[in-house]
Amino acid sequence: MYQMGGSVVHLTTGDSQLGRAEPIDDSARVISRMVDLVMIRTYEHTKIERFAAFSRVPVINGLTNEFHPCQILADIFTFIEHRGSIAGKVVAWVGDGNNMANTWLQAAEILGFTVHVSTPGGYEVDPKVAGISSTDCYKVFADPLEACRGADLVTTDVWTSMGYEAENEARLKAFADWCVDAEMMAAARPDALFMHCLPAHRGEEVTAEVIDGPQSVVWDEAENRMHAQKALMEYLLIGRIG
Ligand code: NVA
Repeated sequence: MYQMGGSVVHLTTGDSQLGRAEPIDDSARVISRMVDLVMIRTYEHTKIERFAAFSRVPVINGLTNEFHPCQILADIFTFIEHRGSIAGKVVAWVGDGNNMANTWLQAAEILGFTVHVSTPGGYEVDPKVAGISSTDCYKVFADPLEACRGADLVTTDVWTSMGYEAENEARLKAFADWCVDAEMMAAARPDALFMHCLPAHRGEEVTAEVIDGPQSVVWDEAENRMHAQKALMEYLLIGRIG
């Protein structure tokens, strides 16, 4: 917003009346009379839906337990910058069936690519939670190496997302084999890219060799998060880009 000449009010729960049990509906009514856009990072997706239903201005999902659309916009922009159209391509998702995985499935359905999903048992993606209309856009693989075979992009995420910290110990055990390593990258296409939405834990979900290696585009991805969000805000404010 600052780069585009706007300004920002940053509210944590404690800074707003939400921290004093004001209903979300009322906070949405008040806040949306004072600003042009709202971005919310929270836990349950239903909270954002509720806020949006009572907001007079667009509401951007800055991350919920279920979805992370701004990150996927940035990731797809990064793929296109490096390799061109993502339509018809294969994206390997190695790890948790979390907010990132769900949003990859949504994007695959809209843009016409396929996601090879490999998660440990108990951490699978759920097409109902992902909100996709069919399961045609993804294939499930028990073995993460098989998910990576022939992929144009290999991507992963932390084993423990925000809000799931109490499960950390169990997840460390369950996810031990879901570490993107050189063998998985070698199974992918020779020109495959590696992405991670960060923060990364080298030695857990990815080896240092992969994230710091030549196929990794994680720093472009991080920068592109800003550019993609600027484009999104521009689109929501003026109805077009540029
Ligand atoms: N899945 C991660 C993404 C972090 C940007 C989380 O929700 O914590």
